[in-house]
Amino acid sequence: MTLAVSDLAVSFGGVTALDGVSFTVRPGSITSIIGPNGAGKTTAFNAITGYLQPTAGRINYDGAALTGLRPSAIARRGVVRTFQRTSVFPSLSVADNVLTGLHLSSTAGFLDVLVRRRWLVLEESSLHTDVEEIIGFVGLGHRRDEMASTLPYGEQRLVELALALAARPRVLLLDEPGAGMTGAEKTVVSGLIRQVREQGVTILLVEHDMRMVMGISDTVIVLNHGRVIAEGTPGEIQAHPDVIRAYLGAPRGAA
Ligand SMILES: Nc1ncnc2c1ncn2[C@@H]1O[C@H](COP(=O)(O)OP(=O)(O)O)[C@@H](O)[C@H]1O
Ligand SMILES: [Mg+2]
Repeated sequence: MTLAVSDLAVSFGGVTALDGVSFTVRPGSITSIIGPNGAGKTTAFNAITGYLQPTAGRINYDGAALTGLRPSAIARRGVVRTFQRTSVFPSLSVADNVLTGLHLSSTAGFLDVLVRRRWLVLEESSLHTDVEEIIGFVGLGHRRDEMASTLPYGEQRLVELALALAARPRVLLLDEPGAGMTGAEKTVVSGLIRQVREQGVTILLVEHDMRMVMGISDTVIVLNHGRVIAEGTPGEIQAHPDVIRAYLGAPRGAA
């Protein structure tokens, strides 16, 4: 159940976004990837989840290669991600967003889900129960029938988390879940991430908020210019001279 990234390289034309990145994510851990803007964090997520094909390297999960598989096939193996910018279905209600997520993880096709979802709600009451459970878990019970696009931004990010949970992840990759959230909302998200982990889900987190990262991570991996420059516990990372140097050399606002 280990996620192992070996010698991963990604180039965009002349730009080397990842340059021989290797790390493993211990099952059941909260592992964070930090690094200045442009370090390659989102690119690593895109490669792991099949949204782009790496130039070189291998990604294995539970002993089998993910490299070369499509995002849907990777998600079916339990490796599920959220996006840096919110990716909810804006014109669906909160409940229908989650229901769509549940169906995307089942055998039904996407169109099938959209066309037949009301019928499916009636037919598959166990899915209905799952929807209520997930919405309640992220604290959006009072919003279940509201259109996702009408929610405040922080709550839209929670819908996105709910969508990812609906795919029943074994490894959940979260790309800046705290971005655009208030401090109070970030505290809520940190608590949710901890609870998800307690249910046995492995978490790989990209996040700029260092309080969140250092507060919840078991292991922190630092990327800079497409390379891993440090890896360790939050305490080790905060005291690491290369990390301090990378951050002091980073543009204002980057973290
Ligand atoms: N689709 C793309 N086409 C060209 N360059 C890209 C693309 N995606 C990312 N990059 C470049 O790759 C590098 C890493 O980007 P990214 O992974 O988004 O960084 P991070 O998430 O750490 O801020 C940056 O230099 C970025 O400009
Ligand atoms: Mg990014």
